[in-house]
Order: sequence, then structure tokens, then C-alpha cells
Amino acid sequence: MTLIEKFYPMMKPWLFRLDAERAHTFTVKMMVIAHRLGMLKSVGPIGPVGPVGLMGLSFPNRLGLAAGMDKSASAVDAWGAIGFGSVEVGTLTPRPQPGNPKPRLFRLPEHEALINRMGFNNPGIHSAVSKLQRRRTKAIVGVNIGKNFDTPNEGAVNDYLYCLKVAYPVADYIAVNISSPNTKGLRDLQAEGAVRQLIAALKTEQAALKKEHGKTVPLLVKIAPDLNDMQIEALARVFNEQNIDGVIATNTTIDREAVTGHALAQETGGLSGAPVRERSNLVLQAFRMLLKEQMPIIGVGGILNGADAVEKMKAGAALVQVYSGLVYRGPGLVREILEQVK
Ligand SMILES: Cc1cc2nc3c(=O)[nH]c(=O)nc-3n(C[C@H](O)[C@H](O)[C@H](O)COP(=O)(O)O)c2cc1C
Repeated sequence: MTLIEKFYPMMKPWLFRLDAERAHTFTVKMMVIAHRLGMLKSVGPIGPVGPVGLMGLSFPNRLGLAAGMDKSASAVDAWGAIGFGSVEVGTLTPRPQPGNPKPRLFRLPEHEALINRMGFNNPGIHSAVSKLQRRRTKAIVGVNIGKNFDTPNEGAVNDYLYCLKVAYPVADYIAVNISSPNTKGLRDLQAEGAVRQLIAALKTEQAALKKEHGKTVPLLVKIAPDLNDMQIEALARVFNEQNIDGVIATNTTIDREAVTGHALAQETGGLSGAPVRERSNLVLQAFRMLLKEQMPIIGVGGILNGADAVEKMKAGAALVQVYSGLVYRGPGLVREILEQVK
């Protein structure tokens, strides 16, 4: 057991007494400092894992950090050092924006869950890109992109194209986020017509950027768990027809059934952690059945332990990601998953 794994259980009660967002900001800062002091060094990958070849990339292992934990790309080397094989930074928008008023992040410990309505608080794509230019980690870095809150949906394509162009030279992959519940109208971009137009534009630009930069940066789309069968079929049809490089399933849910009666259940935002697992796995399975075989799915939503990650793989994921699990379990979760998912 390494220092950081040993310390987290001791720090957790203290962190959980802080407001959730303050605890998050503090933890990310501590990760950066601990990494600079060499305290994360020995955490690295456990046993004979990876590399995993996927979408033309070589992932050191199958575990990634989900988007939203490191919105500004400020700690990528530290996440790599604690064993993550990939880190998805963002969501990043063309211009910096403050996000929604606080409080906007809530813990529901009885359910091992979080509710957030952060609203894409981020320093803007340029700031993140300049940080990523200086990264040293061998972990694969995905850049998750979105639109500014004040860009109407009719202009959304331009925001995504802008971010794609700026991030392309430094990103290993790009995740197109059309599934956050906290930016008004964003999920409407999942409608068949809108998503077809968006992806067609992004795929055309990807081909041009490939020529310009001499490398292919895969384009993945991140989807919501709150899709009915018809919406899933329509999205899969577009993904197959447009040859998207991969799918990330899923984002947070707006459904509150699993947490009914909890004092915070009615807070607006996306619910993550254990309560989203089942729905997330069903959506993942459905996409796996409908998508072309060679199109990988990154499974995310409700992984709280190694067995959950194994279940996600069985449901059809090629890689898995975690966010809420890390809050509840700390860095020990990384080791546990890497030991069980090879
Ligand atoms: C506080 C918070 C912020 C998030 N921000 C983003 C984001 O900016 N972009 C995104 O695509 N997903 C974001 N997510 C969603 C996660 O990446 C993930 O899809 C979701 O939480 C389900 O995984 P989990 O159950 O392991 O947390 C966020 C989640 C949380 C809890």
C-alpha cells in the first residue's frame, strides 16, 4: 500500500465535512503537490496490465478518469501517476465561463452518489491546451469539448468545431459532449437530425486536420443514460453511418427514482455514482448490440468497485472510466480495478 492510499481513508471524514466543491478543489491541488513531491510514484500500474490497442492509440491499461474531475487539465501527470491509463479533461468550451452559482455539487453518501449542476465551469480550451503541451504522463489524454452556455443551439456546431481545431494538436482523442444536463438545450443535440449535422461537420474537419497535422485524433461522442429505445436506435444509426470512432456511455442521469426520499434528491442536476449504474449498463449493452463491432465503447457510470468495472466490461465496454467512485473510495479504487480488469 502506498502513502496516498493509506492517507485517503484518514482524510476522507475530514474532506466529507467540507463543502463538496471545496473538498474537490482542495484534493486536486493536493494531488499536484503530492506528485511534485514524488509521493505518487510507487502507485503506478499493478501487475501485467496493458497496453491496450484501440482506435489507433495505445492505452497503458483499461481504466480512465472520467470528464469533470479535471476540467482545466491541471493535474494530468498526477492522475497518470496514480495509475490511470487515460485522463479525459474538460468539458472545455471556446471561451472561459464561470458555470452555475454555488452550491452546485452535492453528496448523497447513503447512495454513494453525487448530484452536480456545475454548468461547464472551465478556463476555456486555449488555457487547457497550453497546459497539455507541457504534460509528461504516458497516459492517454482525451479532451472533452462542449459549447458555451450563451451559444444558441443553432450555433453549437461552430463551438465544437472551434474546440476541435484548437485541441487537435495536443489531444490523443476528442470527446464530443452532447449529454450534460446542466447546459440548457445541450441534450437536444442528441436528436437524430441535430447529431447527424454535428458529427458530419466534425468528421469533415477531422479529415482536414489529419492532413494538416499528419495524425489521426479519434472522435468519440458522449451520450446520456436518459435515452429511450427509439433514441438509442437513432443515435446508433447516425454513429454507424458517420463512422464515429467511439462512444462514451454514459453521462449523469436526470432520473431520481433510485434516490427517492433523500433530502437532496430534488436538487437540479445530474446524478452519478451507484444509482446510475444499472441504467448506464443497459444503455451500454443496447449500443453494443447496435454499433459496428469495431466501434469501441468506453463504459462509465456507477463503478464503485472492481466487480462493477468487470460488469461494465461484460456489458460491452472496451475501456472503463470512474468519477464518483474515486470520491467515495479514493485512490485504492484504481488499484482494485486494475487488479480485476486486464
Ligand atoms: C461533479 C461532476 C462534474 C462532471 N462534469 C462533467 C463534464 O464536464 N463533462 C462530462 O462529459 N461529464 C462530466 N461529468 C460526468 C462524469 O464524467 C461521468 O460520466 C458520470 O459522473 C458517471 O460516472 P460516475 O458514476 O463514475 O461518476 C461530471 C460528473 C460529476 C460528478
